[in-house]
Amino acid sequence: MDLDQAGGDAIMSGTLYGVGVGPGDPDLLTLKAVKVIAAAAVVAYPAAEGMESLARAIAAPHIPAGKTEIAIVTPMVPGKFPANDVYDDYAKEIAAHLSAGNDVAILCEGDPFLYGSFMYLFLRLAGDHPTQVVPGVSSLAACAAVAGAPLVSRNQVLTVIPGPLDEADLEARLLNSEAAAIMKVGRHLPKVRAVIEKLGRLDRAQYVERATMDEQVVLPLAEAPDTAPYFSMILVRSPEDVETFGEQA
Ligand SMILES: C[S@@+](CC[C@H](N)C(=O)[O-])C[C@H]1O[C@@H](n2cnc3c(N)ncnc32)[C@H](O)[C@@H]1O
Repeated sequence: MDLDQAGGDAIMSGTLYGVGVGPGDPDLLTLKAVKVIAAAAVVAYPAAEGMESLARAIAAPHIPAGKTEIAIVTPMVPGKFPANDVYDDYAKEIAAHLSAGNDVAILCEGDPFLYGSFMYLFLRLAGDHPTQVVPGVSSLAACAAVAGAPLVSRNQVLTVIPGPLDEADLEARLLNSEAAAIMKVGRHLPKVRAVIEKLGRLDRAQYVERATMDEQVVLPLAEAPDTAPYFSMILVRSPEDVETFGEQA
């Protein structure tokens, strides 16, 4: 709780919301996400430098006109995590709105707590302000849906693997996996595909690009182009599931 400097009246902090906006289709926002966005005084969203914010574009039909908006612009440095001072500055700006009693909704593509950049602001603000996370439809769920088969079934274990891992690490983790989802594929596609091929699993791997968006692509991994966008994923299914549910979508 903050004290209003002028009159000494107590001002309750506004609530910080991390709002999952789903994987791309604006119909895949939850009812709660739509309600929170409509009610918040301030809507913030990540935007890579010089690019449109994907989270904002997804939620656009649900953002009422006239909201205060904050684009959280982060520099694009391949392989590096965004600079701390960038998040320190945005945390201060958002904290000022919260301290004035305004709710702030930070939009996050997919789900905020699955590799979401929301966590950099969560770390800086949640200790001082009431915070709620609105879960979103994750890219894992979306990619499985458009690929047309379950990620895992029965008691199988799903391993989620970041594509930037080096070859040896990727190989070790895939070797220990019944089924796997490889995220953050982008420029790592040739490396990931080579490892999957080496392990003899190419025939049970699918490539999914921009799931649920207009530009969606679903292909057997063997047929995917070498250049993949950042919003792409590779699903490797268990031999049992390939037998039960069919080879490829
Ligand atoms: C930083 S992570 C964010 C994940 C997101 N918070 C979620 O819940 O899905 C970005 C990675 O998620 C995956 N991804 C997100 N949306 C996707 C989509 N619509 N289609 C395919 N992959 C997607 C890609 O692997 C991408 O590199």
